[in-house]
Amino acid sequence: MTQHQPLTPAPYVWTAPPLGEATSAHPRFYTDPEVFKAEIAHIHLKHWFFAGRVEEVANPGDFKALETVGGPAALVRGQDGVLRAFANICRHRNSILLEGKGCAHSIVCPYHGWSYELDGTLAGAPGMREVPEFEKPPHGLLPIRMETWDGAIFLNFDDAAPPLSEHLGDLPELLGSHRFGDMRVTWQIEIETRCNWKLLLENAMESYHTGIVHAATVGAQKSMSFPTRGEWHCIQVQAGSSIAVLDGDPPFPPIAGLSEQSRKGTYFTLIEPTTQFACAQDTIWWLAVRPVAVDRSVLSVGGCFPRPYTELPDFEERAAPYYQRWEAVALEDVGILEKQQRALGSVMARPGPLSWRDDMVLAINRWVLSRLPAEVAATLT
Ligand SMILES: [Fe+2]
Repeated sequence: MTQHQPLTPAPYVWTAPPLGEATSAHPRFYTDPEVFKAEIAHIHLKHWFFAGRVEEVANPGDFKALETVGGPAALVRGQDGVLRAFANICRHRNSILLEGKGCAHSIVCPYHGWSYELDGTLAGAPGMREVPEFEKPPHGLLPIRMETWDGAIFLNFDDAAPPLSEHLGDLPELLGSHRFGDMRVTWQIEIETRCNWKLLLENAMESYHTGIVHAATVGAQKSMSFPTRGEWHCIQVQAGSSIAVLDGDPPFPPIAGLSEQSRKGTYFTLIEPTTQFACAQDTIWWLAVRPVAVDRSVLSVGGCFPRPYTELPDFEERAAPYYQRWEAVALEDVGILEKQQRALGSVMARPGPLSWRDDMVLAINRWVLSRLPAEVAATLT
C-alpha cells in the first residue's frame, strides 16, 4: 500500500512483519524510565501537540494557561488581535505567571511584580533601574512555536521541526468537510491516569476492545483503516448515525455539507504523537494526552459542535448526552489501561501476538520506535 493513493478505507493497514509474526511491543516500552526520557527528548519536544481552540482565546487580552510536556505555557491574544504562545514563566526567577483562563490588560508576575505586555514585551521590572546595564528588551516572555489549523492550536518546542501543514499531510483533505473552523468547543475535562501515554493512544485507535470494555456503553464496533500521508493515522468506525451519543436518535443533525465518506461513520485519528480528533457526523471531540511519567499521563477530552448548534436555545440540554457519553467511555478506557499498566510491570510480562484488528497499535509502536535513538530501541527487542 503506497502512501499516495486516494483516501479510501482499506480492510486494515499493515506493515511488516507479516501478520502472524507481529507482536505487541516489549513491556519495557511502557515501563522503562529511560525509554520515557528518550521519548520526551526525541518525540514530544520535537513534534506538534494540541493545545486548544482559537475560540477559547477569542478577544484581545484573553489568555489560557496550560501544562505541556515542556512545562507551563500560555496562549495569549494581544491587543493587536494576534494569538501568541509563551512559556508561562517569569524572566526574573521563573515563577508561574498566569493561571487558568481569563482576560487581562497585562501579565503581572505574582512573585516580584515584573509585568509584561500581552505581546510578551517586558513592561516593568520593579527595582531593576539600579541594576547596572539592565535592559528590558532581552527579557520578554519566551515564545513557543505555535500554528493553527482550522481553529485547532498546536504547539511545538522544536523550532527546526517541519511546519504543521507538513505534519498533518492529507488530514485536512479527509476531515475538511467537518469544517473544524466553524466548530466551537463547549466542554472539556481532564483525567489523571496511572498509565503510559502510548496505551491511551493505542487504545483510542482500535475497536477490538469496544465490545468488551464498553459493553455497557458504546458496545462492539467495526472499523476500517485508511492509508494516510503525513504524521497521522486514521480509522473509521462504520455507523450510519453518530456514535457520539449512546441511545436513540442523535440530538443534532449531521453537519451540513459532510462528504460522502464522512457520512459513513466516525473517524478516529491519531496525529502523532499525542492528539486524537474523533469526527462523527454531528460533532468532533478530541483526546489529547500529556505524558507526565512513564506510568502517569493526563488525558484531556474536549467536545466541539458546529457554531449554529451552540446558538440553539436548548443547546445545553441537547449536548448533555454527548458529554456523559464521552466521560463514561473515557473512564472505561482509563480503567482497563491502568490494569494493563500494572500487568506490564510484571517480571512475567512479554510481547504477545497481534490480531489484524491491532493494525494501528503496530503502526503507532513502529512510529515511536523508529524515532528513538538506536541504542534505546535496541533495549526493546
Ligand atoms: Fe475504548
